[in-house]
Amino acid sequence: MEGKDLEFAVNGERFKVNSVDPSTTLLDFLRLHTPFKSVKLGCGEGKLFFSYFLFAGGCGACLVMLSKYDPDSDQVKEHSINSCLTLLCSINGCSITTSEGLGNTKNGFHPIHSRFAGFHASQCGFCTPGMCISLYSALSNSSAGGLTVSEAEKSIAGNLCRCTGYRPIVDACKSFAADVDIEDLGLNSFWKKGDSKEAMLKSLPPYNPKDHLVTTFPEFLKKNVHNGLGYRWTTPFSLTELHNILESANAGGSLKLVVGNTGTGYYKDDEGRVDRYVDISRVPEITMIKRDENGIEIGAAVTISNVIDALKEEGKSFAIFKKMAAHMEKIGNRSIRNSGSIGGELVMGPSRKFPSDIATLLLAADASVYVFNGGIIKKVKLHEFLDSTRVLDTKQVLLKVEIPAWTDDAGLLFETYRAAPRSIGNALPYVNAAFFARVSRQMVDECLLAFGSYGGDHSIRATEVERFLTGKLLSHSVLYEAMCLLRGVIVPGKGTSYPEYRKALAVGFLFEFFSPLIDDNNGHSNGRVDPTESLLPFLSSSQQVVESDEFQPVGEAVIKAGAAIQASGEAVFVDDIPTLPDCLHGAFIYSTEPLAKIKSISFSENVTPAGVFAVLTFKDIPIQGQNIGSKTVFGPGPLFAEELTRCAGQRIALVVADTQKHADRAAKLAVVEYDLNNLEEPILTVEDAVKRSSFFDVHPMFYPEPVGDVLEGMKEADRKILLAEFRLGSQYFFYMEPQTALALPDEDNCVKVFSSSQAPEYVHSVIATCLGIPEHNVRVITRRVGGGFGGKAIKSMPVATACALAADKLQRPVKMYLNRKTDMIMAGGRHPMKVTYNVGFRSDGKLTALELTMLIDAGMEPDVSPILPRNIMGPLRKYDWGALSFDVKVCKTNLLSRTAMRAPGEVQGSYIAEAIIENVASSLQMEADEVRKINLHSYNSLRKFYKHISGEAEEYTLPLLWDKVEISSEFEKRGEMVKEFNMRNVWRKRGISRVPIVHQVMQRPTPGRVSILSDGSVVVEVGGIEIGQGLWTKVKQMVAYGLGLTKCAGSDELIERVRVVQADTLGLIQGGFTAGSTTSENSCEAVRLCCVMLVERLKVTMDQMMMEKKSGSVTWNKLIQQAYAQSVNLSASALYTPEFSSMEYLNYGVGVSEANVLTGKTEILRSDIIYDCGKSLNPAVDLGQVEGAFVQGIGFFMMEEYTTDEKGLVVQQGTWDYKIPTVDTIPKQFNVEILNTGHHKNRVLSSKASGEPPLLLAASVHCATRSAIREARKQSLSWNCNDGNRDVSGVDFELPVPATMPVVKGLCGLYSVEKYLEGKICGK
Ligand SMILES: Cc1cc2nc3c(=O)[nH]c(=O)nc-3n(C[C@H](O)[C@H](O)[C@H](O)COP(=O)(O)OP(=O)(O)OC[C@H]3O[C@@H](n4cnc5c(N)ncnc54)[C@H](O)[C@@H]3O)c2cc1C
Ligand code: FES
Ligand code: FES
Repeated sequence: MEGKDLEFAVNGERFKVNSVDPSTTLLDFLRLHTPFKSVKLGCGEGKLFFSYFLFAGGCGACLVMLSKYDPDSDQVKEHSINSCLTLLCSINGCSITTSEGLGNTKNGFHPIHSRFAGFHASQCGFCTPGMCISLYSALSNSSAGGLTVSEAEKSIAGNLCRCTGYRPIVDACKSFAADVDIEDLGLNSFWKKGDSKEAMLKSLPPYNPKDHLVTTFPEFLKKNVHNGLGYRWTTPFSLTELHNILESANAGGSLKLVVGNTGTGYYKDDEGRVDRYVDISRVPEITMIKRDENGIEIGAAVTISNVIDALKEEGKSFAIFKKMAAHMEKIGNRSIRNSGSIGGELVMGPSRKFPSDIATLLLAADASVYVFNGGIIKKVKLHEFLDSTRVLDTKQVLLKVEIPAWTDDAGLLFETYRAAPRSIGNALPYVNAAFFARVSRQMVDECLLAFGSYGGDHSIRATEVERFLTGKLLSHSVLYEAMCLLRGVIVPGKGTSYPEYRKALAVGFLFEFFSPLIDDNNGHSNGRVDPTESLLPFLSSSQQVVESDEFQPVGEAVIKAGAAIQASGEAVFVDDIPTLPDCLHGAFIYSTEPLAKIKSISFSENVTPAGVFAVLTFKDIPIQGQNIGSKTVFGPGPLFAEELTRCAGQRIALVVADTQKHADRAAKLAVVEYDLNNLEEPILTVEDAVKRSSFFDVHPMFYPEPVGDVLEGMKEADRKILLAEFRLGSQYFFYMEPQTALALPDEDNCVKVFSSSQAPEYVHSVIATCLGIPEHNVRVITRRVGGGFGGKAIKSMPVATACALAADKLQRPVKMYLNRKTDMIMAGGRHPMKVTYNVGFRSDGKLTALELTMLIDAGMEPDVSPILPRNIMGPLRKYDWGALSFDVKVCKTNLLSRTAMRAPGEVQGSYIAEAIIENVASSLQMEADEVRKINLHSYNSLRKFYKHISGEAEEYTLPLLWDKVEISSEFEKRGEMVKEFNMRNVWRKRGISRVPIVHQVMQRPTPGRVSILSDGSVVVEVGGIEIGQGLWTKVKQMVAYGLGLTKCAGSDELIERVRVVQADTLGLIQGGFTAGSTTSENSCEAVRLCCVMLVERLKVTMDQMMMEKKSGSVTWNKLIQQAYAQSVNLSASALYTPEFSSMEYLNYGVGVSEANVLTGKTEILRSDIIYDCGKSLNPAVDLGQVEGAFVQGIGFFMMEEYTTDEKGLVVQQGTWDYKIPTVDTIPKQFNVEILNTGHHKNRVLSSKASGEPPLLLAASVHCATRSAIREARKQSLSWNCNDGNRDVSGVDFELPVPATMPVVKGLCGLYSVEKYLEGKICGK
C-alpha cells in the first residue's frame, strides 16, 4: 500500500509507518512493533457485542496517554485512551505515552509508580500500568487547584483489578489529591505509626506537577498533519473535502466514517473488511461547539468528555444541562468518553440498536440533529431521526446536535435516571430515563418522558403516557394509571434479559419523578435507584496490622518485590517475551454441541483463511504420545475431543497461523460438522446425572465422616425445616492476564515452554506425556502470572500442551494468547451445586441436627472435583450442628469441567451454613446473629467436629474475634440504627450481618533452593509461583532472616541482595501446585531450611575469620569471599515436608457488613473484618490478600453471573456482560484488622494462611442484603390491597447467589410502586 508515512511518537521516540492495514489498533502496534509492553491486553474489548445481556465493558489494562498539538493555540491537549480500540491511523501526528514512558528502571520511576508500590497497590501487576495511566490522566486534566479526593477515586472507576480489592489503589490515588487528609490514607511503607502529618507528607515520594506532569510533545510532530491520502484511510479537513470523498467513493466498496472507533466491537463481528476509512474528527463543522441564547449546538465528532465540559459550562445558567452532564459522566469510563463522540453514539442507536444514554437524555431535552446528505443539510427532531433514519452505511453524515435552552422557571422539572450494575464503573444500564415536565402546582402542563436501554430498538419517548399526563392534575390514581400505561409502552425485545425487571425500573423512575409532587413524605431521594451521591461521599477505610520484629525482616510490611516495575509495566509476563519473526500463533476451535460425533472440520465457504499454517487435532499427536491436555491425581483430561465431543466448549482443534489475529479469525471461521444421530441425550443438569447415575467416584480420603447421630439429633429438635432446597451458581476467575503460553522447539527433540501457570510441574509432565518424550526433554518456565485464582492450575495445562504440540510438529515457536471470549468459554469456573437439607433445632435457637444432600456439577472431567466434598464440609462445620450427616454426589455432566477456584467448595460450604442459619432464624423469628452466637463452637464441640485439626485450645480464636468485631464495628448500636432507618424509609432498606468463618488449610511438600553468589548477592528458587499473592516478597524476607543468622555486619540489609527468580521445572523439580493458600508459607519454610544449611556451612569460615580478626565484626561480603576461597558449597536446596499430624490447620475470621437496598441495587455501606493471621509473615501482603479475597467474594455473592445456555455453552463471554466488582461497588467504609495471635507451634514462624479464607467472609454482605430485603417485603405486605399477592408473598424467601440487582428487586417486589399507590388509593 502506497502513501505518505504515518508519523507519531511513542514515549518521545519517532515512529514512521509506511504500510499498515488500517484496521490495526494502536495496541497491536505497540505490543508487536515497539519495545513498550506496559500496554496490556486484558480483554481487547473496550468493545461491544450485540446482546440484550449487554452492559458496558473493557478493563483498562491497555490505557495510554494521547497528546495532540493544536497549532492555533500552540497548546498540547492530552487524555487517556483505550489503545485496544484506537486505530493506529487515527493517531497520525500525535504523541503516545505509556506507563514506562512516565518513568522506568533506567530513568527513575514516576512518583505514581513509587506510590503505587509503597501503598501496596499492585499484586499481580497486570492491571497496574493501566491504573497508573488513569491516575496520570486525571492529574493532568485536573483544575488549577489540583486533583480532589473525589476525582482521585473516580479516576480509576473504569479500570478492573481482580487482585487488590481496590482499597490500596484508591489510597495511592488519593495521596495525590490536593484536599486529602493524609491521616485517612491506609497502610503504606512510607510512614510509621505515630508520625506527624508533616512527617507523613514529607515521606511520600515527592510529586510536583511542573516536573511530573510533563509529557513533552516532540517538535517533529508540530507540523501540519497530512490527510493520509493514498492509504485506505483519509482525513478530510473541511466539509467540502468530506463531501468530495463521499461522492467519489466507489459505489461497490465499503466506506466507514470514524471518530473514536469505540463502537468497533459492537458490530465488529459482521463488519468484515472496510475498503476505506474516513476520519471525520478534523472537519470544523463537525467538531464545533456553539452556545447562544437559543441553546447549544454540538458537532457530532465532539467527544463525550468535551460535551460534558460544555454542558457544565452551560449548566451554570441552566440546571438541565448540569444534570445531563452529570448523567454523561457515568457513560463508559473516562478514556471512552475521551475518544467516543456524541455523533458516533447517536448513529449507533438506530442503526445498531445501541442502548444509548445520550439519546435518552437528548430526547427529553427536545434536541434536534442536522444530517448532511449529498451536499444538503437537513434538520430533524431527534425522535424522528431515531425512528426513521438508518445512517450507517448510507454515506450520510450526522453533522451536529442542537439542544434548545430551557429557562429555569419554578415549574420546570428535569431529572435523569440510570440503573446499572455499577454506578460509575463502566456498565451500561438496564434502563435509563430522562424526564422533562412543566407543572403548575400539581397540574402537568407539558412533559417529555424518554426511556432507553430497556431492550427496545432505541431510546423512545413514551408519547402515550405524555399525552395522558398532559393537562392532568396529579393524584395517586392519575399516577397509577400512567404507570399502567407505561408498562404497555416499555416492551423489551425478544431475548432481552430480565424484561419484567426493566419494566419495573421504568415504572419506578416515573414514580420517583412525579410522586414528590403528590406526596411530600415520599421525597425524591428515597426512591433513587442509582443516586448520584452516595451516602458516604468518599471511600474510607482503616487497617490494623501488627508488625513483629522477632524474626526481622519477616513480619515487616515490606513492599512487594517488583511492585515498581509492575507499575511502570516493565515486569515481564509470558506475552511480553519477545518472539522470533518465525513465531506462529494458535487459537482453539471448540465444540458448540454438548454431545455429538465430529464429522468434519473445515472453514467457512471452504476457503482457508489468510495466514493459516495448520489445523491440528488429536490425530496430530505423535504416535508415541497420548491425547492428554491435563492431569490431576484423579486422572487425565484429553487435549482434544476425538470422534466425540462431550461438552460445548471442549477443544476440538488448534488453528496455527502467522499472527494471533489471523489465528483467532480462522478459529471463528471454522465450521464443525456434527452428527447427533444414535447418541444418548447429553446430561446437562445434576438431576439428569442422578437419573442416569452419572457420578465421579470420591475416595474416602476426600469424604469426611459424619458427626454424631442425626436421628437422635432430630429427635431432640422441637422445630424442623424439612426438604429445603437452594442452588449456588458458578464464578469465572477473571484473572486479568488471559491463559497464555509460548513453546520453542529445541535441539535433540526437546521443547521449552513459557507458561502462565500455577502448576508448571504438571504442565511439564503433561507435555512430555502428550509428545511421548522423556520429561528431561521438556522445560517449563514461569516467571510471574497475571492473576490465577485457581484458573491457571489445571486449565493452563492444555494451553501450554497445545503450543508444545504445535511447536514440536511444525518446528517453529508457537504462542497462544487466549482471547477473553475463548478463555471464558473454556475456563469452567467454580462448581455450581444444588443443596437440599433437613435441619432440626430447638425453639431457643440451638441446632440439634443437620442432614444434607448435595449434587455438585463437576462437568465432564474429574479435574479436582472429587476433593469438593471434603472442602465443602470443612467450613460448613463452623457451627455446632449437634449432629451432621451428608450425602454428596459429584455429578458427571456434559458441561465443561469445573475446577478449583479460590476457596473451592469452602466458600459454598461456609455459605450453606449461613443460609441454613438464616432460615432457622426466620422460622423462629429470631435475629440470625443470635442463632449464630448460640451455635458457635465451644472448644469441646470444635474438637468433636474437627478432631485433630482443631489445634490447641488457645488457638481457637473465633470467640475472641466474634467479640472483638462486635466492639470495633459497633455492631449493636448499628443494629438499632438499621431498625430505625427501616422504620423511617419507604424505598430504602438496610440490613446488617455478622458472619464467622472456620477455614481448613493443608500444607504440602514444597522445594526451595538458596544460592549465594560471589559478590554476596543471593538467588532463590522456589516451587511456588508468584501469582500476585506476594510469595516472592515473603520468601525474600525469610531468606534475609535465615541468612541474617550468620550475624555478620550488614546482614540486616540482606533483603536488598536477595532475588527470587522464575520457576524452571528442570532447575527445581517437584514444584507442585501453587494453590490452597499455603504455598507462601511452605516456600518460606523450604528456603528457611536451605538457610539453616548455609549458615551451618558458613559457620566454620565465620568462626575462623572471627578468630583471625580477634576484634570487630566480619562483613557479609568478606565472609562470602572467604567461603568462596575455601570452596564452601554455597548452594543449598531442600524439600520441605510438613509433619503429617499437623499439616492441616484452621483459620478464623469474622466479617460484619451493612447493605442498603435501593430498589435492586445493593450498596455496601460498611464492612468490618477481623482475621487471625497468626504472626503474619508480611502484614501488608496479608492485608492485601484479605481485602482482595473479600472483594472477589462480593463478586461471587452479589454480582457475577456465569451461566450456560441450553447446550451448556457459557453465556457471559467478556467484560461486557461479566461484571466483577469495580471501585464503586466495594464497601464504602472498609475496616480490616489482622490479628496477631502469637505463637503457633506447628506453623511456619507462627504464621497462618490468608489467601483464600477471607473470601468466605463476603457472605456477610449477602446475609445483610437478605435482611434488608426481608424488611422491604414486610413493608410491601403492609400495602396489600386488591391484588396483594402479585409479587411478594411472605417474609420467608431464598436469596440466590449471586444476588444481582434484578434478583434483589424481584424479591423486594417488582410491583412495589403500584402496590404502594393501590394502598394509597384504597386508603391504607
Ligand atoms: C467500553 C465502553 C463503554 C461504553 N459505555 C457506554 C455507556 O455506559 N452508555 C452509553 O450510552 N454509551 C456507552 N458506550 C458507547 C460509546 O459512548 C460510543 O461507542 C461512542 O460514543 C461512539 O463514538 P465514536 O466516536 O467512538 O464512534 P465510532 O466508533 O467512531 O463510530 C460509530 C459508528 O458511527 C458511525 N459514525 C460516527 N460518527 C458519525 C457521523 N457523524 N455521521 C455518520 N456516521 C457516524 C461510524 O461510521 C461507526 O459506524 C460505551 C462504549 C464503550 C467502548
Ligand atoms: S484491553 Fe483494552 S479495555 Fe481491556
Ligand atoms: S493487581 Fe490488579 S489485576 Fe492483579
